[in-house]
Amino acid sequence: MSEQVLVTDEGGVRVIRMNRPEKKNALTQPMYAEMTRALNEASASAAIRCVMLAGGPGAFCAGSDIGDFQKRVEGGLESVTIGFLHALARNEKPLVAAVGGLAVGIGATMLLHCDYVVAAKGTNFTTPFTKLGLIPEAASSLLGPARLGHARAFAMLVMGRPLPAEDAKAAGLVNEVVDAAAVEETALAAAREIAALPAGAVALSRKLLRGELDGVVTRIDTEAKHYQERLRSNEARAAFAAFLGRKK
Ligand code: COA
Repeated sequence: MSEQVLVTDEGGVRVIRMNRPEKKNALTQPMYAEMTRALNEASASAAIRCVMLAGGPGAFCAGSDIGDFQKRVEGGLESVTIGFLHALARNEKPLVAAVGGLAVGIGATMLLHCDYVVAAKGTNFTTPFTKLGLIPEAASSLLGPARLGHARAFAMLVMGRPLPAEDAKAAGLVNEVVDAAAVEETALAAAREIAALPAGAVALSRKLLRGELDGVVTRIDTEAKHYQERLRSNEARAAFAAFLGRKK
């Protein structure tokens, strides 16, 4: 499966790349499992000083795979998503994201756990949770208002309105907005810059900036409990069926 998630290490930087371009990098359960493994391994490795999350040109990530949602509703799939969210929140290495375009659902909310985000001009950050009968995840109900303010977080996380890259930068979710062609090199340069700093000082500084993590992990679990219930709701079932059955 691993070619749907590519993991490479170079010069102290681990790149975890979502690589399912034909589905805009929608995340399947095996992809979540591989990303969890790659994050946990990075956390435990002294050689890895920084992790970069990347997708492809035009698409960072279209969120969780809606076909998998449907399988979970039917009880045919055990979720490993929570493991990924815990690994993301508890990961000990600075996280840089290279967002080459399209960041939907968890493709947007995972950025709230990142330390440095580079996005392509024209990218929209979109979280259509309620339109799918779902609720915010990845502790975005906590980190979203804290980072964006309640008004912007509500429009994004509850109303499902896209947050354009420039607004995301003004709000403090994104560090740099650059031409699509420059996203990877810009993000990699930031990752290398971080990797070249004294690791102990970076680790402690980051820990102090991020503060207590228990509240974040508790919120991930609380959201997950409600999310699980919402997946089985009639609203969600109808939305999944509509997406999977749509005619183009
Ligand atoms: N789950 C499953 N498949 C997905 C997907 C997802 N989250 N996102 C995209 N895909 C699939 C599409 O079904 C399509 O598959 P097909 O070619 O076999 O029909 C393929 O990826 C390309 O997507 P397409 O819709 O043709 O691209 P687009 O550029 O017109 O639109 C999106 C991209 C992301 C806006 C659109 O695909 C979409 O709305 N996806 C759902 C996003 C979502 O709701 N995620 C979950 C949030 S909780």
